[in-house]
Amino acid sequence: MRVAVDNALAEETTIHWHGVRVPNAMDGVPHLTQTPIGAGERFLYEFDAVDAGTFWYHPHQRSSEQVGRGLYGPLIVEEPQSVRADRDVTWMLGDWRLTKSGAISEDFGNRHDIHHNGRVGNTVTINGRVPDGFAVRKGERIRLRLINAANARIFSLDFAGHEPIVIALDGQPVTPHAPDKGLVVLGPAMRVDLIIDMTGNAGSRASVTDRFYERLEYRLVDLVYDGTPLRERAPDWPLALPANPLPEPDPEAASRNEVVFNGGMMGEMVAREMGESLGARGGMMGDMNSMMGGMMRMMNSSAAWFINGVAADGASHDMKPMLTFEKDKSHVIAMTNATAWYHPIHLHGHSFRVISRNGKRTLHREWQDTVLISPREKVEIAFVADNPGDWMFHCHILEHQAGGMMAVFRVA
Ligand code: C2O
Ligand code: CU
Repeated sequence: MRVAVDNALAEETTIHWHGVRVPNAMDGVPHLTQTPIGAGERFLYEFDAVDAGTFWYHPHQRSSEQVGRGLYGPLIVEEPQSVRADRDVTWMLGDWRLTKSGAISEDFGNRHDIHHNGRVGNTVTINGRVPDGFAVRKGERIRLRLINAANARIFSLDFAGHEPIVIALDGQPVTPHAPDKGLVVLGPAMRVDLIIDMTGNAGSRASVTDRFYERLEYRLVDLVYDGTPLRERAPDWPLALPANPLPEPDPEAASRNEVVFNGGMMGEMVAREMGESLGARGGMMGDMNSMMGGMMRMMNSSAAWFINGVAADGASHDMKPMLTFEKDKSHVIAMTNATAWYHPIHLHGHSFRVISRNGKRTLHREWQDTVLISPREKVEIAFVADNPGDWMFHCHILEHQAGGMMAVFRVA
């Protein structure tokens, strides 16, 4: 791929190719991998599209506002040989906070959003429009690529009696399976490729509902069936996608690394209590010591979120690596969400296998680049560090990232 980016904004920007395994210099992280593209300047991104799948791109500079104002797009890399479907459709899900007059609310990066669940808006769009109906035909098979481009909103989509089959997550093929409880969950930045057979009756309508936030369910869009069927029954074509050339991690031989996420409304209190009780006893050593140091800093600063006790300065990406991984070796990261909030955690430059949740092995060992971690949950991921350089990992609720929830890992 070769993409010339002209920055017509009145401020600096960059483009990050989310989920695409690019060389470090093409990763679009300001100050860490490149000088930001100044107003009126051009930057040429060039890389090989090594994996087929559903990806997307967005600025990494002041992302909370630049992405929040709609600077993003889908990036589809086609398989040489794809799964068979009647139509290949992309729904880029957007979420906007609009004022009564329909303007974009200007309250970007406010303290409340940073300390709670981010900038969740009041208007959801598909491909930039408030959807009305989506025309389908009985018997039709659709490959639906869902991309969550929202700053903070998490989706849990109910397809009203249809039985979607998940065939890829974050662009990477997965064993075809029905989603848990039939609900398709996407945290910010995540993608899900579905195969959906349109099994409703000709002339009928069915509502796709988002059920993620309790008592805030809403109708996303209606599937509107045409009067004439395409075929009477669903086709029985194969569902599996060809695998991408990802290096297979060996969890047995892997280095083990612990990452703890802290902060937010209840997390701060927990950390403060821990700080007091441990501080009183004194004599802490090593890791614990530096972690507590971080917690002390957090008590005295306005930062909201912490990785191993350290909050990044949200405005700058100029950070010392927190973790270093030996190149071409397998590594496991055990990530503990010690907060009362959801966090979609994204690693740059690599896809990883999600191998366990709360000590229980995952069914599909799914490849992801962004993993949604529930409050108090512990998730283990495994990957081969084959892409040298300094890479970001951060929460993709963009207000959490701005509030300190990002760090750098080095592959060397
Ligand atoms: Cu989609 Cu570091 O981001
Ligand atoms: Cu978060």
